[in-house]
Amino acid sequence: MITPGASGGLGLLANLLLNPGDGVLLSDPAYPCVRNFIHLLGADPQLIPVGLAQGFQPSVEQLAQHCQAHSRGLWLASPSNPTGTIVARPLLQQLCQFAAANGLHVLMDEIYHGLHYVDDLPCVLEIEPEAFVVNSFSKYFGMTGWRLGWIVVPEAYIERAVILAQNMFISASSIAQYAALAAFEPGATEIFEQRRAAFRERRDYLMTALSQIGFTVPEQIHGAFYVYANIDSFSADSEAFCAELLENHGLAITPGTDFGDFNSRRFVRIAFTTSMEDLRLGMERLQQALA
Ligand SMILES: Cc1ncc(COP(=O)(O)O)c(C=O)c1O
Repeated sequence: MITPGASGGLGLLANLLLNPGDGVLLSDPAYPCVRNFIHLLGADPQLIPVGLAQGFQPSVEQLAQHCQAHSRGLWLASPSNPTGTIVARPLLQQLCQFAAANGLHVLMDEIYHGLHYVDDLPCVLEIEPEAFVVNSFSKYFGMTGWRLGWIVVPEAYIERAVILAQNMFISASSIAQYAALAAFEPGATEIFEQRRAAFRERRDYLMTALSQIGFTVPEQIHGAFYVYANIDSFSADSEAFCAELLENHGLAITPGTDFGDFNSRRFVRIAFTTSMEDLRLGMERLQQALA
């Protein structure tokens, strides 16, 4: 089903799948709107703290620890915002097995698929055909402002999903849908792949530059366009750190507190959605600020 952005899809799926009091297992940090949608439904976001050493993805042991009688779903993003890390195939298999054994529906936000820098990035449907998938034209296709996304739902949920869509937004904008057809024209993929290559180059540059300055970055960033970096060497408060950089050094990065509670004052998210030239300037400013 085509939706008004992945956001429209996430909102629809929250309404489709949750009742007040239901629990949903999520990683902390994660894209913040997901937790907010769960709250809006009167449901319970069950945050699983995930750290740098585990690539910011939950283990099966953690699922077992956090899963409770009221848990109904496991909602993840791969690649993830804010961390850029992915759920690799063996882990995805284990997580889906756990979910099936415990009656949890699996929702996977695959909005950064296409913008990945690793050979094997499984779609959850390869492993769990009954999973719910969220995706969008906002990232790989670079059509963020057109507000167009899609969801894939199991057969048994289609009718209810259509009824909800009729009530919530009727449809995605038809103008945007016609515009998005251009993404499938000959030659379009070449443009998207050039963008992907540019993102990969920026990722490589930033990972090295940030480590050299003293940030701790994940070993691998396999997708999306973010580095979620530890700032222990400089500050114990990511909000104050980001505010100082913004106010006095002309640098816009995001405090971890936007994405969760776990260690969130110790991390910042740096987006590489700008040119290499600007990234180099940013790194110079950062070095000056830290000096
Ligand atoms: C993980 C994730 N899901 C969903 C969205 C929302 O995307 P859209 O523009 O398609 O609504 C974003 C936007 O940044 C995101 O990072």
